[in-house]
Amino acid sequence: MKNRVKKLIAVGMASAMTFSLAACTSGSDAGNSDSGKTENQAEKKQTKAGTGRIGVAMPTKDLQRWNQDGENMKKQLEDAGYEVDLQFASNNVETQVSQIENMISGGCDVLVIGSIDGDSLGTPLKTAEEEGIPVVSYDRLIMNSSAITYYATFDNYLVGQKQGEYIVDELDLDNAAGPFNLEIFTGDPGDNNVNFFYGGAMDVLQPYIDDGKLVVQSGQVQKEEVATADWSTEKAQSRMDAILASNYADKNLDVVLCSNDSTALGVENSLEANYDGEWPIITGQDCDKPNVKNLVAGKQSMSVFKDTRKLAEQTVKMVDAIMSGSEAETNDDESYDNGTGIIPSYLCEPTVVTLDNYQKMLIDSGYYTESDVK
Ligand code: BGC
Repeated sequence: MKNRVKKLIAVGMASAMTFSLAACTSGSDAGNSDSGKTENQAEKKQTKAGTGRIGVAMPTKDLQRWNQDGENMKKQLEDAGYEVDLQFASNNVETQVSQIENMISGGCDVLVIGSIDGDSLGTPLKTAEEEGIPVVSYDRLIMNSSAITYYATFDNYLVGQKQGEYIVDELDLDNAAGPFNLEIFTGDPGDNNVNFFYGGAMDVLQPYIDDGKLVVQSGQVQKEEVATADWSTEKAQSRMDAILASNYADKNLDVVLCSNDSTALGVENSLEANYDGEWPIITGQDCDKPNVKNLVAGKQSMSVFKDTRKLAEQTVKMVDAIMSGSEAETNDDESYDNGTGIIPSYLCEPTVVTLDNYQKMLIDSGYYTESDVK
């Protein structure tokens, strides 16, 4: 870890030095179309944090949270003085690869990447590394690349753990006789976060499955069996359709662990169309608007709120540290090994949102307006 941070500081200094050199060698030629550039570079020499061009690569516009992440990042980086190249990749890995390549050739000084598939960015990241462009892994850890200098995310294990604990409390699993029927939906297998969401929840729930208090009628418990490609609402919906048809014609489904809101929405759509029993407890994550509406309507029990404004704030601090050649604040230097070593990480704290506190957490905090969620 120490080596990585040292390397990072060296990179930050090198990039500061590049600015100084560029400013010195370009000269100032009024009449020359490059003169604006020279002035910019001279400014960069004086204030290193808050100057330069930052590439922000987000996975998709299809899910609400990434739109918010992208907008928050752009606004906060611009407010801090940076130029921003923000791109969304429609959940298509090749698109993301070529967007990152363009960011590199377009002169970005730092890359902030919310990856689609944590293992598929090897080639552009190798180029970034060769060109001394630091990379901040955003929300999802990019695997098997030594180009990653920092990781900014939420405490992903805690997200899963909170979902599991919510279920234990709501069903009063330590006292109630049970058994209760549970089904499980997690996310895309290429997203490293899934290991933490699923792992955190299952560490809480597995003992109750083992002692028969929770019964998974479909038999689908392993991560691979309960994964949802692309975190797709439609795929979660059709898997739930099949599970209901085969297992719940004459049984109640008591609880569905959904790792996030897009999968929860698919489950809720399926239940609405195919299920007459008592509505189950359903977990989620992100507080997406349709899910908060469902929370208010009694169709989703909880979601885990991840305030993307806070994540953007922390990421901008990392960019500032990189640009000024100093060390960024991290609070977890042991949990996230991307295959090349531990990545120094900052984990923001997630919060459980239910009907009881959504007003305070989401409306009063200015995250949404009342009309967004009703
Ligand atoms: C994020 C979740 C999100 C999911 C689907 C995960 O990597 O951490 O907040 O719900 O991707 O986009």
